[in-house]
Amino acid sequence: MSTTVMGSSMPSYVQISCVALLAYILSTIVYRLYLHPLHNFPGPKLAAISTLYELYFQYVRDRDFTFEVERMHQKYGPVVRINPREIHIADPDFYEQIYARGPNKRNKDRKFVPIFAAPHAIIAAVDHDLHKTRARVMRSYFSQQSIRKREPAITSCIEKLLKRFEDARETGECITLNNAFNAMTGDIITSYAYGRDLRFLDDPEFKLKWKDAVSGALQAGVFFRFFPLLDVFKIMPEWLVIALNPGVAEILYIKDLIREQVRERLATKTKEVEATIFDALIDPSVPPEYKTLDRLTDEGHIFLIGGSETTANTLTTITFHLLSNPPIWARFREELQNAMPVGDKILPWSELEQLPFLHGVIKEGLRLAMGVSSRLPRVAPNENLQCGDWIIPAGTPMSTMTYMVHMNPSIFPNPEKFDPERWITASKRGQNLERYLVSFTRGTRECIGFRLAYSELYLTTATLFRKLDMELYETTDKDCRFSRDCFFPGPKRGSKGVRVIIK
Ligand code: HEM
Repeated sequence: MSTTVMGSSMPSYVQISCVALLAYILSTIVYRLYLHPLHNFPGPKLAAISTLYELYFQYVRDRDFTFEVERMHQKYGPVVRINPREIHIADPDFYEQIYARGPNKRNKDRKFVPIFAAPHAIIAAVDHDLHKTRARVMRSYFSQQSIRKREPAITSCIEKLLKRFEDARETGECITLNNAFNAMTGDIITSYAYGRDLRFLDDPEFKLKWKDAVSGALQAGVFFRFFPLLDVFKIMPEWLVIALNPGVAEILYIKDLIREQVRERLATKTKEVEATIFDALIDPSVPPEYKTLDRLTDEGHIFLIGGSETTANTLTTITFHLLSNPPIWARFREELQNAMPVGDKILPWSELEQLPFLHGVIKEGLRLAMGVSSRLPRVAPNENLQCGDWIIPAGTPMSTMTYMVHMNPSIFPNPEKFDPERWITASKRGQNLERYLVSFTRGTRECIGFRLAYSELYLTTATLFRKLDMELYETTDKDCRFSRDCFFPGPKRGSKGVRVIIK
């Protein structure tokens, strides 16, 4: 009987665990609201308490967090605490302090890098100095000079896309530009960097399965950022991951092709000077620990992922806006016809860059397509940063989403409008509008492939609009407008993409 009395009077393990959990939650809330180094910063209290706030907007309100951050700024001002540990700043003039050039050190936020699922690649290097060592050998491979040398490889992929479009004219088939451009940019980056393309353009569906799988994997990466301990895909055997998500097989297949090529390069004794990116990466000046099979494979894979969807989305945006604005298209056509009177002779990139209207078209495409919609936080490891009245403590992840700069009406009046002329007017006035075009971010961690992206954008846009006549097919503004943050900007759910008929 005494045992029973004792048993009923003593708290059970479940009760002890519940009390401990409650105490942990309450003390975390109190700490985050009143003691945390960011506790004075403005922002919703719920966001300061837990990342569940962001989770709600991303998954219950369907990828809406960017717009919620915009609403926070309208209410609380340009500096906002968007979650317990991060600050978001909506001041375009502060951008280059966050995304700073050397000698200011800027690390990446370690919570964000697992998204890329390529732990050995440059994009996932958290530490400023480690990144600097890795970037050094890559920069010359993506220099202006290097791109000019490889321009024929780029134009040959554009010609192949053109051929697919011409075939579609014969059959009357409509083309989904998002997929077609993704296949072309995938072939360009692989023929440019690996020395042979992966023949995405030969696939009747433009390797749509691979595109969808990459997008799914990135979104899974974003989701597991909220629950790092639940990232079960990392501990599951490969066959089970594929059974649960068949698209992953496409990614693994492509990754295997890259690994095979790296293996060949590592086995070859003779080194061709920068024939491929892998030759650059195994340069004798690179420390041996950076020349492993895994490192080079991750790097190669990230070039493909980073270089395809971003550039393809920009080309899709440009094409959509030109086709839906006949006066702008007519003006553009006139410039192209004057510059290239013989239709099948397209100027090289260096000369296309000099065409003012084309320049405006490319800049507007980059501005509205935005590149990446997710925030991309940076950390100043040893420096407190002053933004207005606020001092952001060293070590705090901070960001400015591209959307906040590109859609700022005081810099880009009527920001939703596709208006190539604004770049021409700004240049005549001596106004440096380029400073506020941040699709590639800025500073030490800006996109390494931005010049390659520019060459693709100029050459593809000029070729398609000089040589082809297209018409939008069952496509409206909602198929192109940024409505959901899927890491890359996504249109409204259910959109079939931007589709065209070739005339
Ligand atoms: C319009 C086209 C492109 C846009 C808008 C774009 C945008 C970006 C952005 C925003 C970042 C920073 C990511 C971060 O902070 O985590 C980035 C990084 C990167 N991009 Fe691009 N990109 C484009 C094209 C390309 C191309 C063609 C390549 C091919 C080489 C490429 C390769 C990379 C790599 C390797 C990084 C990581 C750089 C580093 O961490 O140092 N991108 N890109």
